[in-house]
Amino acid sequence: MDKIAIVGAGRVGESTAHNLAKAELCRHIALIDIKEGMPQGTALDIQESAPIFGFDVKLSGHNDLGSVAGSDLIIITAGVPRKPGMSRSDVLDVNVPVVTAVVDEAVRSAPQAMILMVTNPVDVLTYVAWKRSGWPRNRVFGLSGVLDSTRMASFVAMETGVSVTDISAMVLGGHGDTMVPLPRYTCINGIPIARFLDAAAIGRVVERTRQGGAEILALRKTSSAYDAPAAAVATMVDAIRHGRRRILPCVAILEGEYGQQGICMGVPVILGSGGVEQVVELDLDEDESAQFRRSAEHVRNDLARLKLG
Ligand code: 2OP
Repeated sequence: MDKIAIVGAGRVGESTAHNLAKAELCRHIALIDIKEGMPQGTALDIQESAPIFGFDVKLSGHNDLGSVAGSDLIIITAGVPRKPGMSRSDVLDVNVPVVTAVVDEAVRSAPQAMILMVTNPVDVLTYVAWKRSGWPRNRVFGLSGVLDSTRMASFVAMETGVSVTDISAMVLGGHGDTMVPLPRYTCINGIPIARFLDAAAIGRVVERTRQGGAEILALRKTSSAYDAPAAAVATMVDAIRHGRRRILPCVAILEGEYGQQGICMGVPVILGSGGVEQVVELDLDEDESAQFRRSAEHVRNDLARLKLG
């Protein structure tokens, strides 16, 4: 990957840029934001850390969307974040025009790019971006499951006291209160967590995962999470950049998988150099399927508001 554009140089955009630069996941990172001087200052600040971290990546800051031109990947973090007490859907109407403007520019000046959506509500906005771009579904996808799963794995580590390095968690569904953490598919070195945690502890892990973003926002009050989201974005970019074909839960357009069509939801996918190379279908039991359908309904309600459902 030569050029990655990050649209939105707020906390998530900034932290993402630094992670990508440190891992040398491309040659050039263009940070774009409407606030004059802000993306330029952020780009320069990160650039000045290059001799310490030893990365040969060029960073630049811009105030015009035209600077996405020629990007291989466009990461969209721009938009209004929610405030404490708000749901992610509450910022939908404000964020739709922001996202469509970026997508229109991408279609014009970076027609071969992939789009990685981070702006909330991410499931709905990924769908908006896909529809608007007319691009194949492998090139338009969103962040959610990698973030929700790292939160779930963290909470499992806190409950059990064992190393995070052995824990892998799986969270499906929409990125909101109806997300579907899957304890059955959450393991410690291959051993299901039910071997270590009783039902009450698993219930705590599930609920805390669902409220993971809100917990940080309630503590910080003026800022949503950005460190874990940016680390999750970098994980996805690494999988694409190195063609790893990792199985990661991501927001993907569904075309019949999980019994869903005309919708975007968090599901496990094979993520590699082609973007979403395949949607992976898991066997869900009755309760898990019901939760997934309920989550889909929530996303559909938002799509219907935009007359897209
Ligand atoms: C979160 O869950 C920002 O939605 C994001 O923290």
